[in-house]
Amino acid sequence: MTHVDLPASIRPTWLDSARLMPALQIRNTHCDALVSLQGAQLLSFRAAGQKPLLWLSEQAAYLPGKAIRGGIPLCFPWFGPHAADPQKPAHGFARQREWTLWQAREQADHTALAFRLSDDDATRALWPHAFVATLTLTLGATLSVTLQVENTGSTAFRFSFALHSYFPVTDIESVRVEGLEAQGFIDQLQNDARCPAEQAAIRFSRETDRLYEGAGGYYRIVDEAGDGSIRIAAPSCHSAIVWNPWTEKTQRLADMANEAWRHMLCVECGNAGRDTIELAAGQQRAFRLQLSRD
Ligand code: BG6
Repeated sequence: MTHVDLPASIRPTWLDSARLMPALQIRNTHCDALVSLQGAQLLSFRAAGQKPLLWLSEQAAYLPGKAIRGGIPLCFPWFGPHAADPQKPAHGFARQREWTLWQAREQADHTALAFRLSDDDATRALWPHAFVATLTLTLGATLSVTLQVENTGSTAFRFSFALHSYFPVTDIESVRVEGLEAQGFIDQLQNDARCPAEQAAIRFSRETDRLYEGAGGYYRIVDEAGDGSIRIAAPSCHSAIVWNPWTEKTQRLADMANEAWRHMLCVECGNAGRDTIELAAGQQRAFRLQLSRD
């Protein structure tokens, strides 16, 4: 799995009984977390004394190459369907590939893990560019996820991405999302129609799949039927995607229980659509997401 020496707070484990899906269990004085090597995907995070921060489907499938439904999958190097070829995997290949653990460090107030994925024959067949992506998880009383992308080739490329966070909610019909009131959005359920700003917090009463571009990066999910809220801060991510599959779409998703839509919500931070990033040869950029409960 790794040649990195693991500090005492990190224990290797498996997600499946066939031992095909390696993972790391992190337990320090501030939090508990579980990370899948496939996708460098954080699957669970709970700060000491708090409720879980992330939602993970009870019916998630743990199969090599299949995206795991929950936690924080990374969509990269494109978000959504591939623009030119619908046969290519939705949301890119990063969440389907096993990443390498590159660094693991224990500090007084957090454990930091850095994972890497770089181009190889399989990635170049899907996306003909040389890159190194580094995903760093900082696991303490709060959670931060940093994606750094470096163009290691000799020509510029463009990429989009999203940190596709799944959050648990008590009842989606009693949830509001603050921070996008003044933003127009693209409705991905209406042929990408551009819709004007609603001038109100987002509420949910049907399937919702919206892409907000040029957004501020600071949001709050208020769980009115539960207690407290979740704060999202990602000022270098100018796109936000707000998704709940509701009833019918959930039935079409084999890795979600029929009633699970009521108890989850995705508020994703990235740069997609008009916010797509261009990287010159040799250039690198980093994007940070911080999540906490209050
Ligand atoms: C969201 C998209 O980001 O991800 C939705 O906006 C999509 O359109 C959802 O349905 C889940 O995608 P997937 O590939 O994980 O089933």
